[in-house]
Order: sequence, then C-alpha cells, then structure tokens
Amino acid sequence: MSTARAFPADFLWGAATAAYQIEGGVTDGGRGVSIWDTFSHTPGRTLGGDTGDVAGDHFHRWREDVAHMADLGLGAYRFSISWPRVQPGGSGEFSPEGIAFYSDLVDALVAAGIEPVVTLYHWDLPQELQDAGGWANRATAHLFAAYAERMARELGARVAIWTTLNEPWCAGFLGYASGVHAPGCTDGAQALAAVHHLNLAHGLAGRAIRGVLGEAKLSITLNLHVVRPEDPASAADVDAARQIDAVGNRVFLGPLLDGAYPADLIADTAHVTDWSFVHDGDLATIHVPLDVLGVNYYATSRVRRGVAGADCEQADGHADSAATPWVGADDVEFVQQPGPYTAMGWNIEPAGLTDLLVSLHATYPHTPLMVTENGAAFGDEVAADGAVHDARRIAYLHDHIEAVGAALDAGADVRGYFVWSLLDNFEWAYGYDRRFGIIRIDYDTLARTWKDSAFWYRELIRTGTLPPASFPACVP
Ligand code: FCB
Repeated sequence: MSTARAFPADFLWGAATAAYQIEGGVTDGGRGVSIWDTFSHTPGRTLGGDTGDVAGDHFHRWREDVAHMADLGLGAYRFSISWPRVQPGGSGEFSPEGIAFYSDLVDALVAAGIEPVVTLYHWDLPQELQDAGGWANRATAHLFAAYAERMARELGARVAIWTTLNEPWCAGFLGYASGVHAPGCTDGAQALAAVHHLNLAHGLAGRAIRGVLGEAKLSITLNLHVVRPEDPASAADVDAARQIDAVGNRVFLGPLLDGAYPADLIADTAHVTDWSFVHDGDLATIHVPLDVLGVNYYATSRVRRGVAGADCEQADGHADSAATPWVGADDVEFVQQPGPYTAMGWNIEPAGLTDLLVSLHATYPHTPLMVTENGAAFGDEVAADGAVHDARRIAYLHDHIEAVGAALDAGADVRGYFVWSLLDNFEWAYGYDRRFGIIRIDYDTLARTWKDSAFWYRELIRTGTLPPASFPACVP
C-alpha cells in the first residue's frame, strides 16, 4: 500500500486572488480609474463585455471572505493592492479610505493567524499614468517605488512577504505587444521598454521597502514558461525554444538574479529596439537580493521554427491577436499540446511543474521558491444537492501538488503553494466565463459556496498530507 505524500510541517499553504478580479467597489472610497476599468469598458475587449465593476464584491464582503480563509485553515493569503484605490492618480495624494481597507484586511488576517502575502502590482495601473505612457514611460517605475514605500510604511511588519509585481511578462507583453490585456497596445519596442521599466520598478520598490522595513521579505512572482522544442533533434526547433526561453523567462531572471540581460535576447530583438532605455546603474538597481521567487504555473508549451505570418500557429494559451506577444520571435510557432485541457484550453501536465522547480533550483540554488499560483478553470455546475462536485479540479490540484512534492524530493527548495484561486473571479479578457475558484461565487446573489475542492484543500492543510483525489469531499 502506498503511503500518502507528506509535506514539511512549515510548508506554507495558501490561496491567491488579485484586486481587480475580486474587489468590485470601483468607485468606493475615492478609488481612481485603472487601465483595466478602461479596457474592460471598451467594447470588444472582454468576453461578453464583462467588467470588474462588481466582480466578487470582496470590497464589501471581505470579512466574510476572511472567515472562509480561516475555515479553510490557510497559512497565508496572497492578495494584491489596487494602486488606484490607495493613490487614485498614481502620483500625489493617497486615499486614507483606500489604505484603511487594506490595513483592516491585514489586521483581520493576522488576527486569524493567516500570513498576509501582498502583491503591489497585479496589473491595475492608474489610468492617469497610462495617459502619460504607462510602463513604456520610465517615470512610472519611480512612481511605483514611491507607492511601494508608502504601503510599507502603512502596513509595515504585519505583512509576511512583499511581492512587487505579478507576472510582469503578462503586464509587458500581453499589455503592450499583443494587446490582449490592458492597456491594449501592439508595439514590440514599447513592450520591451515596458518590461525593462517593470524590472526597474521591482528593483526601486524592493530597495524602498527594505529602506522602510529593513528585514522585509522581498519577492516577485513570474509566470515562467516551460517550453520545449517540438522536435528535440531539430537544431531549428531547439533554437526556437531557446528564443522563447529568452523572451519569456530570462528577460526577467537575467536582470533579477544574474544582474544582466541575456546577450542572446539582445541579439534576437536588435531589429526591434536598441535597448537604449537601459540606463547606467539600472541593472545594479534591479539586482536587489530576493528572499523568495514566486512561480506561477499552469501548463507547458512546445515550439518549432516556422514562418512568420498569418499561418503561424500560435497555440500559446493566450488570447488571439494579430500581433504576437513574443517580440522578435514572429517565426516561432506554438504547436497544439496534447490534452487533456482545462476550460482555458491549457494542457494539463503536472510534470512540467516538477521540471520547472527543479531546473530553477539547479540554476539558482540559493533562491527559495514558492508556487504562488496554480489551479484550473473548469465548467463547474451546481448539482441538485446545491454542491459543486468539481472532481476535475481536485484531480488537477492533487496531481500538481504531488508534482511539487516530487520537486522537494529532488532537492528543490520550495517553501509553499498557493492555489489559484480562493474565489471565482474576473478572468481578465475571459470575464466571468472561466471559473478558477475553490469557492464558487453566484454572480446573481454574490453568495459564496465551497466547491468539493475547498473541502479537499482544507483536508490537505489540516493533515499536511495529500488526500486522495477521491477524498469524500462534502463534509462541512
Ligand atoms: C495568471 C494571473 C491570474 C489569473 C491566472 C489564471 O496569469 O496572474 O490573475 O488570471 O493566470
């Protein structure tokens, strides 16, 4: 008989959300407009024209949500601060009501024994800053550091981990190159400038936070791409994978952890930009010591060297656009992965998570890792008994958490796991159509209902061992 997988006693079990995806309350307390308000209200940008105006109404129901977290037994809660809620225009005046919202939330979490893991930027840039060029404008990085410093003063040592940015790859490349995310620009050179300014913002903010809080634990969360050549024997395909690794992963890992942009990335993109937006001293600023690297993982990719143009297959898991997010790699094709798939069309491959964690540890053995997002959207249904029997989500979580265990066995220094997501929420360009929560939200009544996966996750946290995917879930 096989024994259940046991995790270290101090392994951190959490759940993650992001401000624009759950809060609603977009005009409450003097909140300013963000690029996602503008984008979601622009016809044709989101599925069904969905917006985050109400979302899960967490802004008004956060006490109830913290009670759910306490019932789950979460060790940590990863949430993001909406910059325009605390500083409506992104510069100048701060909003006392906005700051109080997060301060009260942090107090409630601490009182419930849940570690607050804060993300300062999960994509909702103040619109006023976008009007001045957004992340393509270097000034935004300095304004971000000023905002970070203020939040460090306000929330202080109550915060367990300060994460500067969530998935700057998406913010930079989906926002400025393919345009499927806010602000919806399609300019490769601007995207690379935006990416550099996001990296710079991380360094400036990290130093500002440490300036206020000294020993603060600093982090950044990346969506690293597990990319493989379609034909490992083809030099062209191997080179395509190298190129995607450069513009998908090393464009961040290089400056953050090695203090330099990779030479091959600069060469691959030389026809797009001369990189003159990188100023003297920037790389030293970005290379601020990290306490933990956040890793978001959902699926894998396979690529081959093809031909640029309309026939170029782009099954990269991101929404379709005439413009590629893979700047400089127009002739790299993303081929359809074998299934099974989630409702996002993303392939389910738990072994990719083990590979990613093990290879990161091999390259950066002194950087602790944390899985800051992992989870799945499925077409959940409410059964006649009122429950949501989301067996496919349980299987997905089971297999991926087992994959984290396999990485621990292989020596990777993984400190925690956060399920995406605590609640059903606004899934960006896909609106409310894709449900990732372990807790269901009825968008008519805003009622919260635990799915079977929430009961399963609670059992995992309670025991520290992986329950079988068949765990009889509905035991409230
Ligand atoms: C990640 C985002 C998160 C959520 C999941 C499904 O890219 O960080 O907000 O949308 O994907």
